[in-house]
Parts: sequence; C-alpha cells; structure tokens
Amino acid sequence: MCGIVGYTGSKEAFTVLIDGLKKLEYRGYDSAGIALQNDGRLEVAKAAGSIADLERKTRGKFEPVTVGIGHTRWATHGRPTDDNAHPHISCCENFAVVHNGIIENHLALRARLRDEESHRFRSQTDTEVLAHLIEEYYDGDLLLAVRQAVSRVEGSYAMVALSAKEPGRLVCARKDSPLVIGLGEGENFVASDIPALLAHTRKTYILEDGEFASLTPAGVVVTDARGARIDKQLFEVKWDAVAAEKGGYAHFMLKEIMEQPVAVRETLRQRIDAAAGKVTLDELAFTPDEIRNLEKIYIVACGTAYHAGLVGKFAIEKLVGLPVEVDLASEYRYREPLLQKGKHLVIVISQSGETADTLAAMRLSRESGVKVLAVTNVVGSSVSREADQVLFTWAGPEVAVASTKAYLTQLIALYLIALYLGDIRGAVAPALAAELVRGLRALPDQLGLVLAAERLEELRAYAARLARWEDAFFLGRNLDYAVAMEGSLKLKEISYIHAEAYAAGELKHGTLALITEGIPVIALATQQAVLEKTLSNVQEVNARGGSVFAVTQEGHREVARQVDAIFYLPPVHDLLAPVLTAVPLQLIAYYAAAARNCSVDKPRNLAKSVTVE
Ligand code: AGP
Repeated sequence: MCGIVGYTGSKEAFTVLIDGLKKLEYRGYDSAGIALQNDGRLEVAKAAGSIADLERKTRGKFEPVTVGIGHTRWATHGRPTDDNAHPHISCCENFAVVHNGIIENHLALRARLRDEESHRFRSQTDTEVLAHLIEEYYDGDLLLAVRQAVSRVEGSYAMVALSAKEPGRLVCARKDSPLVIGLGEGENFVASDIPALLAHTRKTYILEDGEFASLTPAGVVVTDARGARIDKQLFEVKWDAVAAEKGGYAHFMLKEIMEQPVAVRETLRQRIDAAAGKVTLDELAFTPDEIRNLEKIYIVACGTAYHAGLVGKFAIEKLVGLPVEVDLASEYRYREPLLQKGKHLVIVISQSGETADTLAAMRLSRESGVKVLAVTNVVGSSVSREADQVLFTWAGPEVAVASTKAYLTQLIALYLIALYLGDIRGAVAPALAAELVRGLRALPDQLGLVLAAERLEELRAYAARLARWEDAFFLGRNLDYAVAMEGSLKLKEISYIHAEAYAAGELKHGTLALITEGIPVIALATQQAVLEKTLSNVQEVNARGGSVFAVTQEGHREVARQVDAIFYLPPVHDLLAPVLTAVPLQLIAYYAAAARNCSVDKPRNLAKSVTVE
C-alpha cells in the first residue's frame, strides 16, 4: 500500500523523489515524506495528506542535493499525521528509514529500546523501531547495521536506510514486501514498484526475500543476510512509460476498461493451438500424473480476484470434472483447510501478487505440501516467486484501484487452466474444447463490440439514472450470480452506492422486502439453462415496483418485454459469457461514479494492493 523511492546519483534528488512518489500514488496513501542527505546531515520533511501538500511545504526549502529517500504511507499503526509519516529518524538524527510492511514485534522492540537504551520515540508507528535499531548497531557500516537491525524484526519489510555518515549510499532490505532496484548510468534507484523507475531506467533487479542492496552512484551490490554477494539477474522492464499513464482517458479505470480486448488477446497469446483446438500452457510444469492424481481443487483469493475464482469454479468443474472449493483468502488461512498432498491443487489469484491474505493462504498451502498454482499480473511479485507454478495474466499495469482488465484476464487464465487440465485428464470432449477455444479467440473482437461508442452511451445513460440512488441490487443465477458479485463490488467501491449481489432464487427468502418503487435492480440473464427461472425472479421485482436493467445475450429477445432497460451482448458460449457480462457492469459503475464526482481511480479508504492484513 505504501510507496518507496530512493535515489543516489547526480540529479536533484528532491525532484526525482517527488516525481517517483507521484507515479506510486495509485497504491493508496494518506501521508508522505522525504529525507535528503546534505553534507553530513539529514534534512527531513513530512506531511499528512498528499504529495502536493508535501511539495507545497518543502518547495525551495532544500539545497539541490543528489541523495535521498521518499515515502507515501497508508496508515496501519498510527493515524496519518506528520509525525507518523515516513521517513523515521533515529535519536541522533544520523539515520533515516522508509519502510513498507508490518513489524509484528515492534512493541517489544520499542519497549526495550526506550527502557534499556533510552531511545526517544516521536511516532506511534512500528517502522520507527528500525531507525533506532540501526543507530544501536551502527559501527561504521550502514549495510551491517541494517542487517543486524532487521535480524531483530519479525514481520514484513521493504525498507531503505539513509545515513548522514555515508555520503551517496542507500541500503535496502526486503522480506515479504516488494522492492525493485533501478540501474542507471552514474546513478541508481530503488522503489516499491516499477512505475516509479520508468522515467529513468528499464534495467532493474527484483530484490528477493532476505536480500540486501547497497546503492551508490557508482553501482549496486546485492548480498544475503550473511553478507555474501549475490549475482542478480537483470530484469528488463518492457512496459512503455505511457502504459502507466492515462493515455488520454479521464481516468485510469476507463483506460483499463478500454484496454480489455488487448489484455485478453495478450493473455491468450501463444497459449492456444487453434488448429488442434487445444490449450497449450508450456509455462506450466505439472507432470501428467500430478494432474491425473488430483481429486479436488481450491481457488483462494480476495475481492475481485475471488469473484474471478467463482467463475473459475464453474469452468473447472465442467471441463475437468473435479470439485472446486472457492475461498476468501482471509477465511481460508484461518479455517485449517483439509488439504491433501498430491490429491489437491490450490490456485491462488492475485493481480498485485502482494495481497497479504492471499500470500499467507499460499504459504499455508505450500507448508502442507500441496502444489500451488498462482494466477497473477505482476512479474516479480511475491506470489509469482513463491508459488510452485505461475500463469501470468498479461493485462499490463493496472493502476485504478478498481480492478477491471485484471479481472477479465483472470477469467481467461482460469478458462485456459480448465481446458489444459481437462485435456490432460481426458475429461473434456474434444468438440467442446474446440468450441471453447474458438469462443476464447473470438472474445477480443466481441469485447470491442461491447466497448463501441454507441454502446458506451447506452450505459452512460443508465448510469446517470442509477447515480441518483443510494441502493442497488444485482441479481443472477449460476455464472450470472458470480458476475453479479463482481458488478456489485465495482459499483459500491467507486460510486459509494450501497449495492448487494443476490442469487436470484434467494430474493423471496428476504431481500424482496427491500424492493420498493423504482429501486434499481440489475438482472443478469445470460445463462440459457436458468433463463426462465431468472425471468420469473425479474417478474417478482417488477411486481414490487422495482426498476430492472437486464444484461443478456442478443438471442434472448424475450427478456426485453420484462424489463425497463436492457443491454444485449454478442452471442457467446454460456460458459464464456462472464467475460462479456462483466464489461457493462464495469462501465455502469464507472459512469455512476463519475456522475457522482467520486474519486474514480482512488476511492476513499481503499488501496490498490492490500499488503497488510
Ligand atoms: C477490486 O476492484 C479491488 N481492487 C480489490 O477487491 C482487489 O481485487 C483485492 O484487493 C485483491 O487484490 P489482488 O488481486 O491484487 O490480490
């Protein structure tokens, strides 16, 4: 959730840090700060609020120095205040630290530093203990002091330390929270995420857990906890700098919705053998026996990724013939799942690859000896590096907090996995597999039809009406219910309209009491097998005066007679319909939020990557 930027080189550090932090704003934060190294002393400025507030507070205040660290904080321990903002400094003011993660034993460390070593704390944060520990251990080598300090820490950290005593040097450490080194000519960078580096370099090292890095303008040395040097593999970033910008759209979210045809095409690329009508996942290294011996699959994730898992359940059960249990990671990790090594497979889904609960669920699964297959959008993410197998979604950087293209590509990845496993197990009829492969290949163009300008106007018009309400309901059965869950989350998380998703058959068991005159109800009716049942639920809503907006396939013209407004999708195999159904729901949420002047890309209280519990 927090953002880190560090710089050592010949440019003005203040500008490099501020510009870098701005590229990380999407991660969600509520305070910001920087520390600069200036001729044997540290200059620190912090501000609760935005980076712009920090700029206003500091512009012109600092001499043009060339080494520093910066941070944007999303409050966990301690409210967003100037004192709680990072960087945190030691008593002697010779050491400054920025940190992402949670130091779980910070209270014990704080008590000991305060009571036995007489350290004075300025903040309520867990992070500050690092600055005082480094001061305690420092004996002329900042890297050694950092290694000793983090050896006392239980928890997660991506941290960068700066000392007034070592000109030009930054020292970094990483455990369970991402940190990337940017390699320049006569300058070097560190950041918590790649977009902060793209203006300067595409050459990076992805720090692994337990690794340390010492940066000077002349070079970068990566070592392990014992100080042994590590030869890191260079990771060349392919993202175009513009790719992380808005590209002309009003919001990242709309840009990312419109990128979905490309994102789906990229995620399908080189994974389909069209001639054979099969899926080829060469990046997976399961043995056929490992797949044939499976008796059950778990899908574990949070939020939108969890909703993708609900769709994946249908695909895998239908195409692989194995029972699938879908779990919220925050529930799964504490309910002692009955995992059986060799018989169960756990699929974790995470766009960021850094979600704390999902990471913990993955680690719990692996500790039981069960293989974990990760579906993630971020190369170098913790999930991608710790899972047994990884199937990347190629959605490109998703900046808006509300996940859209990542969700669609997660669905694609799950269809690919289902067809891949089903083929190896001989569970899917070749004719059905070929039909679905054709259907998958058609999706990018069909998405393009759904995203046509005139279709957007239909949705904008409905959203303008919806925006005047404070409550809304999403209904669906089977796959439509899974997508209704996602549509409900989209609407509430960016427009702040209270929305609930209901299995349409459940209405009469309670929720129907809330259906009053005019209340907006979005009914998903794309599944032929349950279409009549869904329409009877729509009639229950109509009879109570509810106003129904239906999403259905072109062939279901009978739906129109039953509803106040309707959005037709191109004809698609029912199993693949969620890929198309989700898009009008994303756009309705987007336009409703824009109509209500909400902060579409950065909704209140939310962050793009929930890296703490
Ligand atoms: C969805 O719009 C939200 N941004 C949120 O629910 C998100 O999907 C969830 O936090 C999981 O994130 P992850 O995919 O990065 O693990």
